[in-house]
Amino acid sequence: CGIVGYVGSKDAYPILIKGLHRLEYRGYDSAGIALINPAGKLNVYKSKGKVTELEHFVEDKDISGTIGIAHTRWATHGEPNDVNAHPHYSENGSIALIHNGIIENYGVLKAMLAEKGYTFRSETDTEVLVQFIEYLHTENRCTLFEAVQAALNQVIGAYAIAVLDRTNNDEIIAARKSSPLVVGIGEGEYFLASDATPIVEYVKDVVYLNDGEIAVINRHKPLKVVNLNNIESKIDIRKLEMNISELEKGGYPHFMLKEIFEQPRTITDCIRGRINVKGTNVVLSGILDNKERFLNARRIIFVACGTSWHAGLIGEYLFEDLCGIEVKVEYASEFRYRNPVIHSDDVVIAISQSGETADTLAAIELAKSKGAFVYGICNVVGSSIARATHSGTYIHVGPEIGVASTKAFTGQVTVLVMMAMMLAKMKGLIDEEKYREVLRGLIAMPDNIKEVLDQHEHIQSVASIFTYARNFLYLGRGCNYPTAMEGALKLKEISYIHAEGCPAAEMKHGTIALIDQEMPTIVIATNGSVYEKTISNIQEIKARGGKVIVVVTEGDCIVAEMADYCIWIPKTAECITPLLSSIPLQLFAYYIAVNKGRNVDQPRNLAKSVTVE
Ligand code: G6P
Repeated sequence: CGIVGYVGSKDAYPILIKGLHRLEYRGYDSAGIALINPAGKLNVYKSKGKVTELEHFVEDKDISGTIGIAHTRWATHGEPNDVNAHPHYSENGSIALIHNGIIENYGVLKAMLAEKGYTFRSETDTEVLVQFIEYLHTENRCTLFEAVQAALNQVIGAYAIAVLDRTNNDEIIAARKSSPLVVGIGEGEYFLASDATPIVEYVKDVVYLNDGEIAVINRHKPLKVVNLNNIESKIDIRKLEMNISELEKGGYPHFMLKEIFEQPRTITDCIRGRINVKGTNVVLSGILDNKERFLNARRIIFVACGTSWHAGLIGEYLFEDLCGIEVKVEYASEFRYRNPVIHSDDVVIAISQSGETADTLAAIELAKSKGAFVYGICNVVGSSIARATHSGTYIHVGPEIGVASTKAFTGQVTVLVMMAMMLAKMKGLIDEEKYREVLRGLIAMPDNIKEVLDQHEHIQSVASIFTYARNFLYLGRGCNYPTAMEGALKLKEISYIHAEGCPAAEMKHGTIALIDQEMPTIVIATNGSVYEKTISNIQEIKARGGKVIVVVTEGDCIVAEMADYCIWIPKTAECITPLLSSIPLQLFAYYIAVNKGRNVDQPRNLAKSVTVE
């Protein structure tokens, strides 16, 4: 989702619309704008679809005013539509608010407000927040800032918000917690945005808000930032030194590297509003709404292509192990041209980043024609697959531009883990301790991924040593076998080096014949149920003169000693290790490709979304 705000002496509308266009690269499904006109009227316009649709919608409307806020929304639950789009406004039409994030305790607040006679137009948590602010504003006869502060002190969840009050057309109140916001400072004017892209062409001086801070942005006054405990923060002005295209790449040389480094944030976005803050519960509305279908599923059949197929293989381990359901994982392209046995009580899960892959779409139609229930795991909201499936869960990792998939893979695995946990709990197959361990593991995942990313220089130096290898072998066991295959695919896609992913123990039945000094092997040997076995596999390679790079759990010296090079990942619950072990493999492939001078973001012969068979 994106936020833009403006207060100053210019017309706000063109600045806000241009800002929304600048944020389009992040993806969205509806857009809206709120302006206070010179007569003090609050005008709110919103529409489903693209920003251009909003522009058409307001063609004959009053768009005057030098203060306003605008938003692009990406639906977390339910249909994107005009009612659910932001800004939301209070019942008396005096306060408008835009919001990124989720208010977890909105149910309690809504019930309290309903008792006081408030009614609601939408099902959203955001509308509850704006009404709550309005309630405190009137009840306490306080300023908008004080009302926002009081409200946020009672809110549980994550947010970046911007609020307007029609009775004060000089001021925007903005606040953040776990969702970014930046204020741009101009001459007698201020800009507000969820990232710097919409404001970089106007100002160089910016202030990044910290978690728990509220900004009072008044056209006549210096910027004031106060925290929830009413302590004023020092204004830390930073200089923006990037141009637009650099900003879109976040300052990284390639989209792929940016997307790899984005993963702490994309995992946060993926679990936001689905796992509660304490890590004691996970809810995916798609599963909840189709509970019986999932509980009565005879089998789960994954259909997907490429990287998404590898995510499906991890899904196989999760659903069999945790939910006791028989699972099949199918290449969509093979499945659609066979005459596969599909029962009406099978659940077919289609995984696709783009939501446009022709083979996956055809597999869905085939499954539907045989009466199966089809569930989608997509990234692109409103894509063909998202629309063709009966229900689904979005991974919400933002647009993936690099052709080689990275953040979409970890997003897909995250959704699969959440689905498996929910189903295992509904079936009574998981004890509370394990359930919470995994959920907490997901909550801790962004920080753990950061730790792996912090080793990028080390990984780069290992990659430099192997840049001229002609072949690579990737080994893993259990749920890290698909991770090994995914690591090999990354290398093939962007460096054009031949690589193969193999189950570590299966190596001895053939692949081991390839091992010599010219054939480096990457082994995922993290702690877990097959750790000891993997150690023997490493010894087998070493005994044949092969070079070994290992990915191991922090603190493991045994394997580190045995191997030639070692990359550590933090300890986490076994079934979610692929989320960590895949990261060094992405970086490794990236650095090798860069060393070889490859076109990393657009490798030869490949397309981001394959809409032909
Ligand atoms: C293409 C891309 C791959 C991707 C595959 C499936 O081949 O190059 O990176 O994994 O399609 O795409 P999807 O959008 O369905 O996940």
